[in-house]
Amino acid sequence: MTGSVVAFDPWSPSFVAWPYDAYAELRENSPVWQFPGTGQYLFSRHADVDALLRDRRLGRSYLHLATHEEMGHEPDAPHLEPFWTLIRNGMLDVEPPDHTRLRRLVSKAFTPRTVQRLTPRVQEFASDLVSELLDAGSDGSPVDLISTVAEPLPVAVIAEMLGIPESDRHLLRPWSADICGMYELNPSASAQATAVRASIEFTDYLVSLASERRSSPGDDLISALASVVDAGDQLTDGELVGTCVLLLNAGHEATVNVTGNGWWSLFRNPSELARLRAGEVGVGTAIEELMRWDTPLQMFERWVLEDIEVHGVRIPRGTEIGLLFGSANRDSAVFPDAARLDLGRFPNPHISFGAGIHFCLGAPLARVELGASFETMIRRVPGLALAETPRWKPGFIIRGLESLQVTVR
Ligand code: HEM
Repeated sequence: MTGSVVAFDPWSPSFVAWPYDAYAELRENSPVWQFPGTGQYLFSRHADVDALLRDRRLGRSYLHLATHEEMGHEPDAPHLEPFWTLIRNGMLDVEPPDHTRLRRLVSKAFTPRTVQRLTPRVQEFASDLVSELLDAGSDGSPVDLISTVAEPLPVAVIAEMLGIPESDRHLLRPWSADICGMYELNPSASAQATAVRASIEFTDYLVSLASERRSSPGDDLISALASVVDAGDQLTDGELVGTCVLLLNAGHEATVNVTGNGWWSLFRNPSELARLRAGEVGVGTAIEELMRWDTPLQMFERWVLEDIEVHGVRIPRGTEIGLLFGSANRDSAVFPDAARLDLGRFPNPHISFGAGIHFCLGAPLARVELGASFETMIRRVPGLALAETPRWKPGFIIRGLESLQVTVR
């Protein structure tokens, strides 16, 4: 199962543009395949990805059990220290018991009510941004849907939720993009340096904002996180900053790409777009299918904490595996006629929000944002059309378009 010569090449633009044929071959012939480019074992079937996400013999980190050296890995490079400190202070990159504690504390501040209360604001943001799109394209010239609607909406929402002053919001997207560069496979030295610089700047910024909010709390999530207490336990200063960065980054990176990739999928499937415009399928159901058909986050990694054996392949402790979400979402064992975009598909057990203890904390908010954005666009821009074939950004893991030029009349 390790000898396949499959066309899996996450650094190739043509693979990033269309990874789905390579995935089909992997699912069929090599459901456990060791990728020579990184040494990781890749899993492509839905049942395996779902089961491994829930399997406690795997983790997003192993540092709660063993040092890098004990796991057979190099210690952290000293120059990456600011990045790792930031990341390991957020719940996504820790395992129980720290994960349980952090997730519980953050969930006390980031509740279903928080999302519910924000819903009218999300709708307002969507409406204003769509008005801007209509203005910009009123003379028939092409407008970029990503920079006018897809990107500013989730950035504004998460920034408002956390209470980031409006004048500073332009800083967030570049910091986030620079930090998230480290999630791609084998990041270059310059991507590492950029991520470290962004980690330092972002940390300094939030340390001072959090200290302001501690002394004069407002009606925002940073103030709520600073004051949340659970059985005498509280977020440390580092955890507060790590949580804010995680919420800010996770809170928009994928949502931007669901919007951009989603519209690109609709333009490539005009009969489905027509069904959506005619109201034959609900926007909520359609969004779930768009997230399945062209998955915004293509792969998540896990460390093997105890030896495992899957499909007869033994994978030792200390190995890293890659779970191919984009492939799991195209598995015909779970999705009838999986290659077809069917906006009315139901049930739709896609895996785009993950599974197990790290299941996306922001899924309800993401659904509200996407619902507001697609619903407003469908209703107010009935003539929306593609102006030119878009290009993909180079990233494979966080997979999205450079821009999406459209006309609005
Ligand atoms: C469509 C948009 C989104 C997608 C596809 C998405 C996807 C995911 C996935 C797959 C994970 C789990 C990663 C893993 O298991 O390794 C995750 C975790 C997380 N997401 Fe999202 N996400 C989205 C939007 C959001 C939003 C809007 C927020 C917050 C405002 C958010 C906050 C988080 C957090 C805090 C975690 C970590 C949970 C934990 O470790 O327990 N996400 N997300």
